[in-house]
Amino acid sequence: MSYKVLVSDPLAEEGVDILRGFCEVDVKTGLDEDEIIKIIGEYDGLLVRSGTQVTAKVIEAADKLKFIGRAGAGVDNIDLDAATKRGIIVANAPAGNTLAACEHTLAMMMSLSRNIPQATASVKKGEWKRSAFMGVELNEKVLGIVGFGRIGQELAKRANALEMKVVAYDPYINVERAKELGVEVKTLEELIPVANFITVHTPLIKETRHMINSDSISKMKDGVRIINCARGGIINEDDLYDAIVAGKVAGAALDVYEEEPPHSSKIVTLDQVITTPHLGASTVEAQQNVAVSVAKQCIEVLKGGSAKFV
Ligand code: NAD
Ligand code: MLT
Repeated sequence: MSYKVLVSDPLAEEGVDILRGFCEVDVKTGLDEDEIIKIIGEYDGLLVRSGTQVTAKVIEAADKLKFIGRAGAGVDNIDLDAATKRGIIVANAPAGNTLAACEHTLAMMMSLSRNIPQATASVKKGEWKRSAFMGVELNEKVLGIVGFGRIGQELAKRANALEMKVVAYDPYINVERAKELGVEVKTLEELIPVANFITVHTPLIKETRHMINSDSISKMKDGVRIINCARGGIINEDDLYDAIVAGKVAGAALDVYEEEPPHSSKIVTLDQVITTPHLGASTVEAQQNVAVSVAKQCIEVLKGGSAKFV
């Protein structure tokens, strides 16, 4: 039996090579929904990152599809209900980019605390404004981690090394694990007013959509700094914008946005907001890990086996 797999977002060569050893592979990136609908009927497998929206319409047109692989953690760009109804197995690669996303969060927190992107831009313009970029230290500051899963826990380890005081909220927290990491477990209501830095690491689900909003921000410390390297929509961007303009929030570091790319988002225009274009998982190592993981799972499923994740 010969199979065909469509790779519709950039996937590391290591994964594509593994697939090519087993079946025919087409790499066609940047297709819109209509273009995917036109061709998806030919394929047994579909591999995506976060760019391709695997909508109910795409799945409806996918007559032969048996497997959808997400080279990454979040499967929010795949209509899971529609896939389940058609008996299509959906799998992700949740652990392959954990360290990349964790290190990116750390880099964002440090850049935010020392105004590094703004100072870089200023020097490149020929300026020398040393007093304009006064920063704050991380040492002894309270880091509030919302969502204490894979990335949240790795971040806690590294924040300990920086001698930050780490507190965490997660409704399903492993209290023993938190204790081992020296992390104080709190409710969200307890965490919000004590943290100097708040970073979110939850999935985007009904319960987490806009969990950081004008109400929660009003209860935060004055001068709090907020980081989102998880999913756009966990923080209400309009509320965050207003709080930064009002001086309540000192700054924010965003890798993800309610709309990506954030063309119509006013928050990215603020000087106090530092931004990256959804780069959390963008390391050579992470992209190899996730590509190999989904490629192997795809082959397993096409051979009649089962997938490891989701
Ligand atoms: P994970 O599943 O290991 O951890 C998520 C945690 O959130 C879990 O412990 C869960 O219990 C907790 N949670 C669920 N509902 C919650 C709620 N209402 N309040 C607080 N916590 C809640 O996931 P992870 O691998 O650590 O990834 C975290 C997030 O980062 C995901 O949204 C993922 O898609 C995203 N991510 C982004 C990038 C990027 O490129 N920026 C890269 C990797 C992962
Ligand atoms: C993920 O959920 O894994 C990230 O968003 C990374 C990606 O876009 O692949």
